[in-house]
Amino acid sequence: MKFPSSSTIFPLLSFLLLSSFQTVTLADSYQNFLQCLYFHSENNATSNISQVIYTQNNSSFSSILEFSIRNFRKHGIQIRIRSGGHDYEALSYVSDVPFVILDLINLSEISIGGENKTAWVQSGATIGQLYYRIAEKSKTLAFPAGVCPTVGVGGHFSGGGYGFLLRKFGLAADHVVDALLIDVKGQLLDRKSMGEDLFWAIRGGGGASFGVILAWKINLVTVPSTLTVFTVHRTLEQNATKIVDKWQYVADKLPEDLYIRLYLTRSNSSSGRTTIRATFECLFLGGVDFLVPLMQQSLPELGLEKADCIEMSWIDSILYFAGFQGESMDVLLSRTPTSFGTFKAKSDYVKEPIPETAFEEVYERFYEQEAESAVMIFIPYGGIMNEISESETPFPHRAGNIYKIQHLVYWQGGGDEAAERHINWIRRLYSYMAPFVSKNPRAAYMNYRDLDIGTNNNKGYTRFTQGSVWGFKYFKNNFNRLVHVKTMVDPGNFFRNEQSIPPLYSRKKKGD
Ligand SMILES: Cc1cc2nc3c(=O)[nH]c(=O)nc-3n(C[C@H](O)[C@H](O)[C@H](O)COP(=O)(O)OP(=O)(O)OC[C@H]3O[C@@H](n4cnc5c(N)ncnc54)[C@H](O)[C@@H]3O)c2cc1C
Ligand SMILES: *[C@@H]1O[C@H](CO)[C@@H](O)[C@H](O)[C@H]1NC(C)=O
Ligand SMILES: *[C@@H]1O[C@H](CO)[C@@H](O)[C@H](O)[C@H]1NC(C)=O
Ligand SMILES: *[C@@H]1O[C@H](CO)[C@@H](O)[C@H](O)[C@H]1NC(C)=O
Ligand SMILES: *[C@@H]1O[C@H](CO)[C@@H](O)[C@H](O)[C@H]1NC(C)=O
Ligand SMILES: *[C@@H]1O[C@H](CO)[C@@H](O)[C@H](O)[C@H]1NC(C)=O
Ligand SMILES: *[C@@H]1O[C@H](CO)[C@@H](O)[C@H](O)[C@H]1NC(C)=O
Ligand SMILES: *[C@@H]1O[C@H](CO)[C@@H](O)[C@H](O)[C@H]1NC(C)=O
Ligand SMILES: *[C@@H]1O[C@H](CO)[C@@H](O)[C@H](O)[C@H]1NC(C)=O
Repeated sequence: MKFPSSSTIFPLLSFLLLSSFQTVTLADSYQNFLQCLYFHSENNATSNISQVIYTQNNSSFSSILEFSIRNFRKHGIQIRIRSGGHDYEALSYVSDVPFVILDLINLSEISIGGENKTAWVQSGATIGQLYYRIAEKSKTLAFPAGVCPTVGVGGHFSGGGYGFLLRKFGLAADHVVDALLIDVKGQLLDRKSMGEDLFWAIRGGGGASFGVILAWKINLVTVPSTLTVFTVHRTLEQNATKIVDKWQYVADKLPEDLYIRLYLTRSNSSSGRTTIRATFECLFLGGVDFLVPLMQQSLPELGLEKADCIEMSWIDSILYFAGFQGESMDVLLSRTPTSFGTFKAKSDYVKEPIPETAFEEVYERFYEQEAESAVMIFIPYGGIMNEISESETPFPHRAGNIYKIQHLVYWQGGGDEAAERHINWIRRLYSYMAPFVSKNPRAAYMNYRDLDIGTNNNKGYTRFTQGSVWGFKYFKNNFNRLVHVKTMVDPGNFFRNEQSIPPLYSRKKKGD
């Protein structure tokens, strides 16, 4: 793995994309640039990016360059950067102003090196592909990122990124040690040449405000060769409320090797009556003989038995929680997402246990028609999340949080009318939850992007105000530092979207 040193800066004039192909215009160092994009992969089966890059020597260069620049000036065309395409509000491929998509899907090389303890991962790779490459090398190496294998590392790492290793190892972004980014001037920068402020910003502050991230260097983590998982369901008739209540008091205090998330859904009881079901999903970094007594001691209400548990390797636990139990790990290489219709999501952080009476009101909402496929997922915090300071990365949700909630509602078909009804349902649930969750700000997770919490204006320019509501919800006081970094690296606000970090002086722009 050989990467460019800080002195290797490639002065790109611009990079653009027309319809579906990548177009990059370079002044020089073309070969170095290509080499960098390939970064010495052992795998030759890669698409050749040189075919979609336009250099100054290319006869089409001027027309392509000017075409875009003219559009940019006249129509305020926006650039949208897409890696895995999993943005909850589709900001990587939808805009209400003219835009081009820089699609990084084919920049998806992964190379594991440094005694297999580090990896360079190009932005268009998925986390499933990364997990696959790690498992190929070792049974005891792992990486703490998300659950759904088709999520792209470009958006995921730049917004935080977490999964079942959260309490032991923190976020994906916490393990990024270097990155390659093209800034607004077309310079290719690594950690050293971009400086610590920008390097800080892209590890949780979202990439899309700052440049195009081409690749990440990450440190892998070590896990035991045998882990234990379980999935246990309890309906209201099986004391779900009591168990959920108790879970709130222990989930963040358990040993960090033990991660138990839970989710609430509507369900049929064995008698056929509609009920609410709590599902407890656990990953334990150890064997079943340690887990069962630990559970009996800390959450006896769940009544966990050895028969509920399965011992497996880390990569098998990835398949298990992704819904591919028993399948070959090759499924992790697929980019085809499991289909689940349309959804709207929101997030909350919980600092005090929620009273049982509030849960009863939540259940009533789950019995409404729109909630047939609704789910509330509770993600336990604590462990290493308590030890990382709020300002270490832009992701501020650390000590003081018992758990995070992801509220989700799914529906299929039904056009605008169905969309409106379901979105209203989740908005009502979200307002109902207000007294029970974090306040001032009511915090939210950037990777669960929610445009309801606020947006920049739709002219393509951003008005900076101290009171930018969405910015403080995602980043708390780190928002101020993000604005500072943005002002340094992209004062003209070239990289922008509905929820991009605004530079300080953009209010002076014409047309705002
Ligand atoms: C089914 C599903 C499951 C999920 N599970 C989890 C989970 O378990 N844990 C978790 O933390 N999150 C999860 N998420 C949320 C996920 O982390 C975010 O949606 C993430 O931003 C997706 O990254 P992407 O590259 O796939 O998306 P994209 O839509 O490509 O990008 C998301 C945002 O990042 C920007 N961006 C993308 N690539 C780059 C780049 N190379 N340079 C600069 N900016 C870039 C885009 O412009 C956009 O603003 C899930 C999402 C879905 C849809
Ligand atoms: C462009 O062509 C000139 C002369 O043929 C060559 O020296 C230069 O390296 C080329 N530049 C690029 C970016 O390919
Ligand atoms: C990659 O290409 C090189 C040179 O063309 C060749 O020697 C090597 O065998 C190829 N490797 C694979 C894995 O195909
Ligand atoms: C990509 O294509 C260029 C030009 O066609 C060629 O010079 C180069 O060797 C190719 N690189 C790879 C890795 O196939
Ligand atoms: C210009 O670049 C495009 C895209 O890489 C390529 O298809 C075309 O052959 C190039 N034309 C010339 C004259 O180099
Ligand atoms: C990615 O590569 C595939 C295979 O070469 C190609 O069909 C597709 O058009 C490429 N996509 C983009 C966005 O470049
Ligand atoms: C790295 O992985 C390779 C398998 O690809 C293996 O042969 C080698 O022993 C591993 N090195 C270490 C230090 O684990
Ligand atoms: C529910 O809790 C009560 C009281 O703690 C207990 O007696 C009962 O057995 C539990 N029911 C189930 C199904 O676990
Ligand atoms: C519950 O039962 C009803 C009636 O039998 C059925 O239509 C519905 O699909 C069931 N729902 C679930 C979640 O199993």
